Amino acid sequence: VLTVIARINVKNSDLLTNEEFETVQQSRYFLKSTINMPATPYYFDHAATSAPKSSAVIAAMTSYLEHSGKSMGRGSYQESVQLDREIMQTRVLLNRFIGGQNANHVIWCQNGTDALNLAILGMIQPGDHILTTSLEHNSVLRPIQHLVETQRVTCEELSPLARGVVTADQVHEAIAAHKPQLVICTHASNVTGITQPIAAIGEVCQRAQIPFLVDAAQTVGHLPINMLEQKIDLLASSGHKGLGGPLGTGFLAIGESCAQKLKPIRFGGTGSSSESAQQPQQLPDRFESGNLNVPGILGLKAALEEAGRTSPRLRRLHEIALIELLLTSLKVIPGLQIFEPQVSAENRIGVISVTSEVLDPHTLGQILDTDFQIQVRAGLHCAPHAHRHYGTLESGGTLRISIGHTTTPVAIEYLTQALRTILGV
Ligand SMILES: Cc1ncc(COP(=O)(O)O)c(C=O)c1O
Repeated sequence: VLTVIARINVKNSDLLTNEEFETVQQSRYFLKSTINMPATPYYFDHAATSAPKSSAVIAAMTSYLEHSGKSMGRGSYQESVQLDREIMQTRVLLNRFIGGQNANHVIWCQNGTDALNLAILGMIQPGDHILTTSLEHNSVLRPIQHLVETQRVTCEELSPLARGVVTADQVHEAIAAHKPQLVICTHASNVTGITQPIAAIGEVCQRAQIPFLVDAAQTVGHLPINMLEQKIDLLASSGHKGLGGPLGTGFLAIGESCAQKLKPIRFGGTGSSSESAQQPQQLPDRFESGNLNVPGILGLKAALEEAGRTSPRLRRLHEIALIELLLTSLKVIPGLQIFEPQVSAENRIGVISVTSEVLDPHTLGQILDTDFQIQVRAGLHCAPHAHRHYGTLESGGTLRISIGHTTTPVAIEYLTQALRTILGV
């Protein structure tokens, strides 16, 4: 029956007669009634964006929109100057959060994708060679592909070895063989949730004097990050995922080693050096043309202030406990395959991919949504090469369950029960 429900939910409803359809619809509602439906959906897509946003974030944004709504970096009137100050304070908070070298080197971007575009297109010259991994998101793969097609750029991708990890030794060997101009690695896979040995790779890159760009979209706010200690030259991230800021926020933090070299990819008014025909050289202005997303950044400021009130270690320990609970609950569901189940919670973020022997990921995701009010993500998660590596590219990818700071043990219990009910185990 479940396989048939699945078919209805996707697109093969023509496989059934009307009568069969009725029967299945009824059994479907029978199934649903075996566990209590929540009043509001249980959200397990924190890897896409954090939700709900905290009341502090909402209050900061609403207050700005209600009482100001002005631009920053443009006017000399007091209100605009005060906004400049608050945006700068947010840079300082964020720079501290990621162990950066200089708050002026924190560049506001629209999202993680925008930050990665700036880093990749801004660092690479025609004919350069890039070293990266097959775990990367399309926001890394596609800018590279654009450079390959238009600027004679070449690229090598390292696949993870055992336990879903790309090692520093692999990076060392590839650097020795091909001398890339840029090394790019995700801090954690957005498909498996497995963290990568960023500090060890940073060490290898620094010794070889090759700039190291880390995609930390999935980790800032979840894992401790220190650009200096981990020898990261460029750190790109969203502000709306682990940090809990609103959509429309992201940043690129630039280490001293790349501050001169990085070229802008957008040009225009910065509110500074307006007499010059050229883009200003100083940071952050070189990379921040046009009005900034002031409400978004102020929302992010509130999120950073909130995060600053708990120790990062405690936050991480809490998250590890939730990951452990999710992992152990999923592992014992018959017929459910977890990607890299042997990797412990300490070496993961709260992102777990599963596939079922009975239902394809899209169908499973759809039943969870429509019948149980559980929101997960099914598919390739914009990381097609990771799926090629795991053999799930052609079979619809995986069902991705991702948790965040607002996830509760009760929600995990409910998800587990729902999966058991759907799979009939
Ligand atoms: C690993 C990784 N990099 C980059 C991005 C892009 O981030 P954004 O959605 O903020 O553009 C994502 C988003 O899912 C991601 O998971």
